[in-house]
Amino acid sequence: MDRYGVFGNPIGHSKSPQIHRLFAEQTGQALSYEALLAPLDDFPGFARGFFAEGRGANVTVPFKEQAFVLVDELSERAQLAGAVNTLLKRDDGSLYGDNTDGAGLLHDLLDNAGVTLRGKTILLLGAGGAVRGVLEPLLAQAPAALVIANRTLEKAEALTRAFADFGPVAAAGFDWLEEPVDLIINGTSASLGGELPPLAPGLIVPGHTLCYDMMYAATPTPFCQWAAALGAQTRDGLGMLVGQAAEAFELWRGVRPDTAPVLEALRRQLS
Ligand code: ATR
Repeated sequence: MDRYGVFGNPIGHSKSPQIHRLFAEQTGQALSYEALLAPLDDFPGFARGFFAEGRGANVTVPFKEQAFVLVDELSERAQLAGAVNTLLKRDDGSLYGDNTDGAGLLHDLLDNAGVTLRGKTILLLGAGGAVRGVLEPLLAQAPAALVIANRTLEKAEALTRAFADFGPVAAAGFDWLEEPVDLIINGTSASLGGELPPLAPGLIVPGHTLCYDMMYAATPTPFCQWAAALGAQTRDGLGMLVGQAAEAFELWRGVRPDTAPVLEALRRQLS
């Protein structure tokens, strides 16, 4: 049976095995998929060992940048993201690296939430790997403006320079932000520590602004709680997780799974 897995450290709470098992069941594909704890000090050796037999893998924190330098060939979107979350072993034994995070976010926003981004104003919070991975796909939707706000302004400015050719992107500090926007995406890791970037309430138009947290949890994240209290629509990143997995599954198996029942199953389990 073809073998797949997800490499991370820690990896115990990964939902990827369940997602891919549900995809495999749904599409009638025979495969195994397991969560694998990769050592922090030898990711390349671990990955090579797996691919002696394995056919494909997802890569999660903290190995996406190491996977980027490990592969023989990169997709264009992985090149732009500077990170790889999906590995595929080709028949000639070479390793191909892709990044499906941006496509997963767009699938959730466009197909699941029914949002259109053309002409909209987007505020992206954070300037780390998570934000870099979704920048080009968001700009490709032709928003009116996309502002990257980060605690460390220089990192937002560096991203702005790197992606200037792809659309109307600008950098800001959190305390510069006042004007209302259509969509706020939280790509900081602040929620992990139960924290929230300092955001002005004036960014939200009640009943209109959508606040999207790339993180998800059983109870609303601090960002979603803040947004909901101001009357914004909110959405967490569970649909993005399932969306990025569907893109990876399609790359590996050549069939596109239906994400809706899998997202429903995960949501039921979380609550
Ligand atoms: P990831 O790969 O998940 O994006 P990362 O590259 O470490 O992780 O980036 C984390 C992001 O969350 C950064 O933008 C970080 O801001 P800094 O660049 O100023 O460090 C942001 N972040 C983390 N904790 C934060 C907090 N408590 N408030 C605001 N931003 C925070």
